[in-house]
Amino acid sequence: MTDGGLQMADGKNAGLSAICHPPSAIPCASLRAPKMRDKAQNAAVIGAQWGDEGKGKIVDLLCESFDVVARYQGGHNAGHTVKFADKHFALRLIPSGILHPDKLCLLGNGMVIDPDALLEEIGKLREAGLRVEENLLISDSAHCILPYHKAIDLAREEAAGAGKIGTTGRGIGPAYESKVGRYGIRIADLLDPAVLRQKIDFTCAERNAVLKNVYGKETFDPNRIFDDYLRFGEVLAPRIINGTIWINEQIRAGKRVMFEGAQGMMLDIDHGTYPFVTSSNTVVGGVCTGLGVAPKHIHNVIGVAKAYTTRVGGGAFPTELNDAHGEHLRARGNEFGTVTGRPRRTGWLDLAVLRTSVTISGIDEFALTKLDVLDEFDEIPICTAYNVHGKTWNTFPAFAVAHDDYRPEYRTFKGWKTPTVGITSFDDLPQAAKDYVQFIQDETEAHVSIVSTGPRREETILRG
Ligand code: IMP
Repeated sequence: MTDGGLQMADGKNAGLSAICHPPSAIPCASLRAPKMRDKAQNAAVIGAQWGDEGKGKIVDLLCESFDVVARYQGGHNAGHTVKFADKHFALRLIPSGILHPDKLCLLGNGMVIDPDALLEEIGKLREAGLRVEENLLISDSAHCILPYHKAIDLAREEAAGAGKIGTTGRGIGPAYESKVGRYGIRIADLLDPAVLRQKIDFTCAERNAVLKNVYGKETFDPNRIFDDYLRFGEVLAPRIINGTIWINEQIRAGKRVMFEGAQGMMLDIDHGTYPFVTSSNTVVGGVCTGLGVAPKHIHNVIGVAKAYTTRVGGGAFPTELNDAHGEHLRARGNEFGTVTGRPRRTGWLDLAVLRTSVTISGIDEFALTKLDVLDEFDEIPICTAYNVHGKTWNTFPAFAVAHDDYRPEYRTFKGWKTPTVGITSFDDLPQAAKDYVQFIQDETEAHVSIVSTGPRREETILRG
């Protein structure tokens, strides 16, 4: 277990600005997309595919224009990798805003939080010289992940055999089940020993019975869980607030808020490739319920999409490549899970997926990441639609998920066969790469305002 005292030693902050603003990097202010500046106060940054689109870099890049970064769903199944100078930061629960000393970060009520994992993440950030103190706030209505949630997640996957979802094994689904079943333990409960005791005794007994009798697994000692979670509450207490009231106060005070999504649209519990999805609403509607923010306060929606497609875990993936092209994407794009290290499945870009995201989340603009990963291909197909049982679909038809019988229709683009790594101006891209980006924009009817050409902050094209 992690020992995660939150008290911060003075002076840690000094090293932070060196990490955040390496002299070689383009200053953040000059990286702001003009379109973003023109837009009103708040923006959502969401994944438009199956997660791992590179949201961490985009959030970090745009962060400078915002005062608050708030997460609204998911838990430590998410994994953002942000590269600063020569340091890699792997963030799971905490928004990448934490890397900027003057930003406030909120873990919203729509999240499921494993306090042990949170304290471990805080500890690692502090070891790297970052300040994690009053700049991190936790909604008292977020739900806790308990050890039996994780055990059930793993046991169920094992029992499902070939039909398993391929979860991250972090207990996400079972924790959301407890929430929806109305026996979940909320962050606020960690501060109330009597309530915590009663809730743990009840749910642990029930979950133990499932673990033992259904799955033949080890059970958990409620006394041990109570002691651990009470201690988590004591350590986290200074950070726990009414997140809904707080964020609405921030908005009313004119602060700019970025709503940070985790996973991607196709993993949404309602709109994704069910049942091969995560257990939360990853689409922009999740902002409203997962933070208690009214729709009128979401002024701009930025969809993040890779220039190709990846997914981890099971489920439909119409443009998947099980050949040397797919292997090339995986190797060149370093497509291995941040959380589990699993190799990601890879495939060509799928416009039916992007159009579905635009429709459901009202995406105003796209940040297209990892364009440079396509540099070496002779030809690059893009899926423009599917044929399912003789009918053409321009968006993702949910009914076909069960049989996974999508037949993608492709338009093939000429590869540019020139390095685009680190290019910072759209004009400097090879014509074939410009055509590729323009086609995505035309077909999705959403402006591609950002093109990422490498993992570093400065390896970015801002088109405005
Ligand atoms: P869970 O969220 O751990 O329950 O996993 C459900 C599905 O979502 C699995 O296919 C996971 O691989 C996938 N998933 C969960 N989080 C992420 C993520 O951050 N990136 C990509 N896939 C994810």
